[in-house]
Amino acid sequence: MPSNFRFPPRFLWGAATSAYQIEGSPLADGAGPSIWHRFVRTPGLVKDGDTGDVACDHYQRMAADVALMKSLGLTAYRFSIAWARVMPEGRGRVNEGGLGFYERLVDTLLENGIEPMATLYHWDLPAALDDRGGWLNPDVADWFADYASVMYRRLDDRVKLWATLNEPWVVTDGGYLHGALAPGHRNRFEAPIASHQLLRSHGKAVQAYRAHGKHQVGLVVNIEPKYPATNAPEDLAATRRADAYMNRQYLDPVFLGHYPDEMHEIFGEAWPEWPAEDFDLIKQPIDFLGINWYTRNVVRHDAQQWPLQAVPVRQPLSTYTETGWEVYPQGLTDTLTWARDRYGPIPQYVTENGAAFFDPPVAQGGRVRDPLRVDYFQKHLKAVHAAIGQGVDVRGYFAWSLMDNLEWSLGYSKRFGIVHVNFATLERTPKDSARYYAQVIASHGGVLDEAL
Ligand code: BGC
Repeated sequence: MPSNFRFPPRFLWGAATSAYQIEGSPLADGAGPSIWHRFVRTPGLVKDGDTGDVACDHYQRMAADVALMKSLGLTAYRFSIAWARVMPEGRGRVNEGGLGFYERLVDTLLENGIEPMATLYHWDLPAALDDRGGWLNPDVADWFADYASVMYRRLDDRVKLWATLNEPWVVTDGGYLHGALAPGHRNRFEAPIASHQLLRSHGKAVQAYRAHGKHQVGLVVNIEPKYPATNAPEDLAATRRADAYMNRQYLDPVFLGHYPDEMHEIFGEAWPEWPAEDFDLIKQPIDFLGINWYTRNVVRHDAQQWPLQAVPVRQPLSTYTETGWEVYPQGLTDTLTWARDRYGPIPQYVTENGAAFFDPPVAQGGRVRDPLRVDYFQKHLKAVHAAIGQGVDVRGYFAWSLMDNLEWSLGYSKRFGIVHVNFATLERTPKDSARYYAQVIASHGGVLDEAL
């Protein structure tokens, strides 16, 4: 039967993870500590004192995990490389022990017909670099490009899709403005500096790719579309500020060569003037844009809310996930078309999409019923398809996440996996959502026609 949901023939069906959230064994084989290794050891910062010391033990179970991916039919896998495994001090000496893990991972993926997408930075800065100022030190761009070059030289013969940074907005907002994520600073003067040095680092890593790589390099951002609660001028202005801060702060410099005007309004005297030549570096052409998408915000003005003077408004008729995020699939279509309309016809990947919901304990017979997550994936895959139908060049989709993992400062309390992990035994059990996604993949989207 012909399907209404045809995806492009070479569309990648993936799942995503990140190093610190799943690997465990953070100091194995000569690795250095990262800022997350430190952060989880600072009392009170992570729920229940959870750490990534064991996590999903993926570092030791990698081969079995790739076999699991294969059994689901995944054609792509997005993972991140822990900088401090490869360069324990963040610069200089390369640690073959740590690098070897990623070589084995990539080889195992390829042997199983799974396309690797490697992210160079998913929030785990080497602690030794934080001691030198981390993302606040302008030298970080050279440190990052050196590390990136090591990885390109070693793996570009096998990895064809590279992402520089994962979600620079979260690194800055969580790490330097509100302190909820490593390195845990709360400083409005630091946040703009961290953003800018992240963007310079991205630019230098793209330049380095042109020298050492032959395939594709891109940037991964999280986009949360902002919709005004009313048409009152102050709500429209609040919506623009929220959108500039979260969505355009990173993409405008990369594609257009300047920050959104609203940044001055938001940060006031804390927003510096940057040298014009920085934007030449930041505006390197990239080969693809990765969009991580979870939710939207309906926004209204609220003078008490610093720095945006904007606050999200809860939608009484909507479903919310366990992390309090509204389920709003139309927003994913809106985002993919918005990115194409604003920044041009660049190839896009949905590099993360998923939801934390309460999961029942694994039932007899090894089944985990997660109907809300199945429904979430069905609706969002349809939303991706709708964007493709509107001419957006979407080349792949990565479910977040392959398996339950350390949800940063929320510890193991929130489960995003399509595969359930029992954190006492480390046993993996595909949830109904994984089974559903496997059917989507096997039918190349055809099963999306069928009611759940
Ligand atoms: C991050 C992931 C995180 C997920 C769910 C994204 O912001 O890239 O590391 O687990 O969202 O919060």
